[in-house]
Amino acid sequence: MSEFSPSRPARLRRSVLSVPAINRRALDKLSSLDCDAVIFDLEDSVSPEKKAEARENLRAFFAETPLPGKERIIRINALSSNFGADDLALVVELEPDAVLLPKVDEPQDVTGVSDRLAEADAPESLRIWAMIETPRGILNAAAIAEAGRTAGSRLDCFVVGLNDLRKETGVPPQPGRSYLVPWLMQVVLAVSAYGLEAIDSVFNDFKDTEAFDAECGQGRLMGFSGKMLIHPNQIEAANRHFGLDEAAIAEARAIISAFAEPDAATLNVVNLGGRMVERLHLVQAERLVHKARLIEQRSGAAAALAPASD
Ligand code: COA
Ligand code: MG
Repeated sequence: MSEFSPSRPARLRRSVLSVPAINRRALDKLSSLDCDAVIFDLEDSVSPEKKAEARENLRAFFAETPLPGKERIIRINALSSNFGADDLALVVELEPDAVLLPKVDEPQDVTGVSDRLAEADAPESLRIWAMIETPRGILNAAAIAEAGRTAGSRLDCFVVGLNDLRKETGVPPQPGRSYLVPWLMQVVLAVSAYGLEAIDSVFNDFKDTEAFDAECGQGRLMGFSGKMLIHPNQIEAANRHFGLDEAAIAEARAIISAFAEPDAATLNVVNLGGRMVERLHLVQAERLVHKARLIEQRSGAAAALAPASD
């Protein structure tokens, strides 16, 4: 029997926008964008000569620009590189919601950082996200996710990185991602087993909105919570696909009402308009309604951010 109870507070992670920390113009845009989370990237999108400047940008940005309602994640360089230690020190200083570790291969990559954050007295609220983007990362996804259950682990979320995985494996980009699906599903299975979440990979061709739309739909059906994005014009489709439709919310409310009837108090299955509904569907329905509430709150915040029209 599973000992895990998925009691973590649900977060909204439909659209997780990556922004190169070196790009001040893009950083300045973030307050006006309707994404759920921002990854400030110090890794692949910043050249070695610009790493220090990118860190300074983040220092200034965090001091000046609150992003209410959005999760803030800093992606650091590998700790084995020349930049990782300074990046992690910056994370401890800025206290974002999470640090995103690149190319996580094995559980020790996560537990090592958990230990360093504890030694630095980083608050418990500072979580760890892991890029799963290497062949070893995929093979070890379950063991890495399981490490999230050890005491003091801050592991919260996986992000799949297909650009690196394609480079390592030689599997080319292809509509439908058919040869990658088994690996993607392995990641989703691993996070489901240990109560974490997974974010689907970036889609590079940001002008091809039709193909992006299709890939978002696929990612949602595979069980991802959201998509990592590279461009503002990808936010709307991600929010739509990983959000909720009215029919699903109405059905969830009907399930909750059905089990709230006095006669249903001791029943594990009820008849909902000619369909069997089990108590396990009630748990799903409650989660869904909670997510709907989070989306409502975010829409309110987005409306408040929208520039006044004249
Ligand atoms: N976050 C915030 N704003 C962004 C953005 C992002 N990721 N990408 C583009 N923008 C802004 C641009 O600054 C531009 O703003 P402006 O109108 O004020 O000039 C606007 O959106 C339109 O951008 P566009 O001209 O279409 O693209 P670009 O040439 O400026 O940038 C990329 C294209 C791919 C270089 C850029 O989108 C990018 O760097 N994306 C993130 C890459 C990344 O994080 N990689 C690592 C993870 S894989
Ligand atoms: Mg990568």
